[in-house]
Amino acid sequence: MKIIEVDSYEKMSALAADVIAAQVITKPHAVLGFATGSTPIGTYVALAKKCREDGLDFSDITTFNLDEYCALEISHPQSYYAFMWENLFSHINIKKENVHLPNGMAADIDKECENYEKMIEEAGGVDLQLLGIGHNGHIGFNEPGDSFISATHRVDLTQRTIEANCRFFENDLNKVPKQAITMGIGTIMKAKNILMLIRGEDKLEAMKAMLAKEVHPSCQASVLQYHPNVTVIYTAN
Ligand code: PGA
Repeated sequence: MKIIEVDSYEKMSALAADVIAAQVITKPHAVLGFATGSTPIGTYVALAKKCREDGLDFSDITTFNLDEYCALEISHPQSYYAFMWENLFSHINIKKENVHLPNGMAADIDKECENYEKMIEEAGGVDLQLLGIGHNGHIGFNEPGDSFISATHRVDLTQRTIEANCRFFENDLNKVPKQAITMGIGTIMKAKNILMLIRGEDKLEAMKAMLAKEVHPSCQASVLQYHPNVTVIYTAN
């Protein structure tokens, strides 16, 4: 794993955008894996600027997002679909048909998971996957557990996550999604390159667990030690 520490969020975002832009320029038909969360927002702003001002061309790029809530309309402002369009896709020249997020409204979620996995494969696999990390070491919605789940699958959100999300859903626990679809650990590990962004000293424990000698599902991100091409950008601020 290559670990780069920078001294500001702006530098992290600029560097991450440069890495993604290099992928887009060297392979205009690349498949990019994107993530939601607060950390990548600056990267998305920087990418939009590169598209607008420098002509970075996303017209042949295909994207797959890591995860999406179940039973939440995509028009809901808290859906990851809405997040991605608001923060990135509306600001770059990507084709709508080339954008993929798991469909959390699918009638048959298990089938949707299978289908998502198949679509990634048929697109040639992910060239560059952007990742964040949770305080508990999760990647996507792969939460700490007894095992690593390989394929795209349905997860029950933990009570802690449901309560933490409550503020985004009118403080009404009943409105908070209880399940999500996430790429599995195997899906993530198949990406040719991985770029992980870690912001804040409060994430240091998770980073330490990720880098600890023992690769263990209690820190799902630790599996990345087995991946040949992982770059981590860390900033304390
Ligand atoms: P954050 O989320 O960027 O909002 O900290 C990261 C994650 O939980 O994967």
